[in-house]
Amino acid sequence: MSETRADAVGVPDVRTAHQDLHSAQGALRGEHPGRSRNPVIKVADLAWLEFEKPDLDRAEVFARDFGFGIAARSGSELWLRGTFAGSPCMVIRRGRTSRFIGPAFRAAERADLDRLARATGASVRDADVPGGGKAVDLLDPSGFPVRVVHCTEELPALPEQQPLLLNFGTGHRRTNVAQRPPREPSRIQRLGHVVLETRVFGRALDWYLDTLGMIVSDFLFLDGQRGRGPTMAFIRCDQGGRAVDHHTLAMHLGPGNGYVHSAYQVTDLDSIAAGGEYLAERGYQRSWGIGRHIQGSQLFDYWRDPDRFMLEHFADGDLFSCDLEPGWAPMSTSGLAQWGPPATRDFLGASPSPQRVRDVIEALRGENEMDPARLLGLLKAAKS
Ligand SMILES: [Fe+2]
Repeated sequence: MSETRADAVGVPDVRTAHQDLHSAQGALRGEHPGRSRNPVIKVADLAWLEFEKPDLDRAEVFARDFGFGIAARSGSELWLRGTFAGSPCMVIRRGRTSRFIGPAFRAAERADLDRLARATGASVRDADVPGGGKAVDLLDPSGFPVRVVHCTEELPALPEQQPLLLNFGTGHRRTNVAQRPPREPSRIQRLGHVVLETRVFGRALDWYLDTLGMIVSDFLFLDGQRGRGPTMAFIRCDQGGRAVDHHTLAMHLGPGNGYVHSAYQVTDLDSIAAGGEYLAERGYQRSWGIGRHIQGSQLFDYWRDPDRFMLEHFADGDLFSCDLEPGWAPMSTSGLAQWGPPATRDFLGASPSPQRVRDVIEALRGENEMDPARLLGLLKAAKS
């Protein structure tokens, strides 16, 4: 960060990370601090996501095309993984319907599970994961089952796609060799984040901060309604001085409680693009991409799986240590990307399904944080 006038004349330093860094604005006095004073535990990371699907064979075909490795497969379970050592990225259990169940977070240490169980009245049980481990099962205020796990065994690292050697300007790193990124599935390295929609955004936000010790990187608010508080948060794990993903969980207020998308890191831009060509050639539907986000800065490309769940390939995301305060910005469609094609109607969910219409009616009638002003604000944000 460059030296400011205040430094030069000895005025107390009132800079925040928002000048020159990740967001133009910080909080106003009295706004949500974006972290809990005394959380029960601090989770280390998002471990995996749990889904249910009727057809595991079909799920496996897409998983391989999208770039997952198979960690384990039985008649009733499909565990997907990335190339990095650690836990699997996703488990798909065979079930009657195709649905998202919930996220599993990784506890920093085994003792955290006891602490969490004591504080919530839950119990520590054997985790249903290859290699074994322990888990505590919770329910977040939106109704998602949230699992906190401590795994006995880590999956070993697998070979991965190497980043391409790039020539820039006069820095010639590659000579006498042609550039030929392979037209093959991207190779997923790891799970990055999950995005959830909730009717009880404020309650759910506080629950994740108080219970799992997560901290907010960026808040979004509805234009003209900042005084009513934020309606979206990009939330990271608090690993102290160790810089982690800008968000491992993002949540926004909406008429439904549900999965929005999940994101998986790949090697670089060529992996995103060549892997995207591979998916397009096989008839999969691109939802939105390729572009570069604002909050989190990731290069992104969004796809629909055969059950219309949205999954993202990403690379080159921001990494924040615990020192940065939350940024504040208005919610808008134009604020989703620094460059890339315009956000699609598919990505924005702009063609409402009958279920979506039912969600809106139910949300406006029920006890939750949605009301006509907020619904209007969300519609306005989608068009701005
Ligand atoms: Fe994302």
